[in-house]
Amino acid sequence: MSPVIETQNLVKEFKVGQGFWGSSSRKLRAVDQVSLQVDSGETLGLVGESGSGKSTVGNCILRLVPPTGGKVLFRGENILGMKENRFRSVLGKLQMVFQDPQSSLDPRMTVRKIVGYPLKIQQGIQGRDLTRRVSAVLQDVGLDSGHLDRYPHEFSGGQRQRIGIARALITGPEFVVFDEPTSALDVSVQAQILNLVVRLQEKYNYAYLFISHDLAVVRHISRRIAVMYLGRIVETAPKERFFSNPCHPYSTALIASVPRPDPFRRQTLSVLGGDVPSPMDLPKGCGFAPRCGRVMEQCREVPPPRVRVAEDHWVDCHLYG
Ligand SMILES: Nc1ncnc2c1ncn2[C@@H]1O[C@H](COP(=O)(O)OP(=O)(O)O)[C@@H](O)[C@H]1O
Ligand code: SF4
Ligand SMILES: [Mg+2]
Repeated sequence: MSPVIETQNLVKEFKVGQGFWGSSSRKLRAVDQVSLQVDSGETLGLVGESGSGKSTVGNCILRLVPPTGGKVLFRGENILGMKENRFRSVLGKLQMVFQDPQSSLDPRMTVRKIVGYPLKIQQGIQGRDLTRRVSAVLQDVGLDSGHLDRYPHEFSGGQRQRIGIARALITGPEFVVFDEPTSALDVSVQAQILNLVVRLQEKYNYAYLFISHDLAVVRHISRRIAVMYLGRIVETAPKERFFSNPCHPYSTALIASVPRPDPFRRQTLSVLGGDVPSPMDLPKGCGFAPRCGRVMEQCREVPPPRVRVAEDHWVDCHLYG
């Protein structure tokens, strides 16, 4: 199957701590040589601790932040090099559902405007046609079209996230980034939204990158899993294989820390001892070395190689080099 989205050696550095005259600014490497691909209609779960760079990967793919290096290919075409006109024409094919429905919906706009906006801007659809399309997508996400002229604050958190999903789907995207879409919601509502995301994929047939710090959620929802640590993807594997045969010591520790996979219980990944190195001062060798129970001498000196351990299963670790 051909990938709908592919990143090649994606890098994002932020300038931080800018001093007077910009002289003392330092660089924080949030994303470090990330190469991933998502096939048509498939789901890749991107999991990692807070601060590991997950959102920045999603934002770079959608050009919400400009990457420092690397490529983002949409159906083989580098969107980073696209002229504004060309990019606008593919924009509706690439969408995002944000973590916090509270802050990602404009409080002064009605549902009709919020959800219809992408279609109006990108395809010039207006009037009754627009209303018809908005009503249809609202129905798909489980909201009554009688809500068209209400404002975001009149809805619950879960309903607001449904509005965010409707806005993302109305243009018929081929690829959607869901960035922790349930982590700001009550536990009881999380499951409903996760199930909605899965169900809608059958109808709309989008591929998606599902970002979460919660391994149980990612397990519930993904076909393949990628584990991110300190700006890098350290392991990628099909879901079943990942849980039955994790290779990276970080993955093993993560899985051990979630004894019963329960998507409806909140889990965090900050369960390991040891310090995560600073992304402003990345270590020479493996970033996991200060926390790894199997660390060897070379781990501190040499970056781990990427090794293919099985079909579709890759790990960055000296144990397999
Ligand atoms: N706009 C920004 N300016 C400076 N640093 C940032 C910015 N956005 C993210 N970062 C830093 O980049 C790293 C990765 O952040 P992020 O992608 O948000 O991680 P995650 O989504 O996994 O929690 C963190 O160290 C974070 O502090
Ligand atoms: S490369 Fe070394 S330190 Fe890093 S995860 Fe593998 S064994 Fe541990
Ligand atoms: Mg994030």
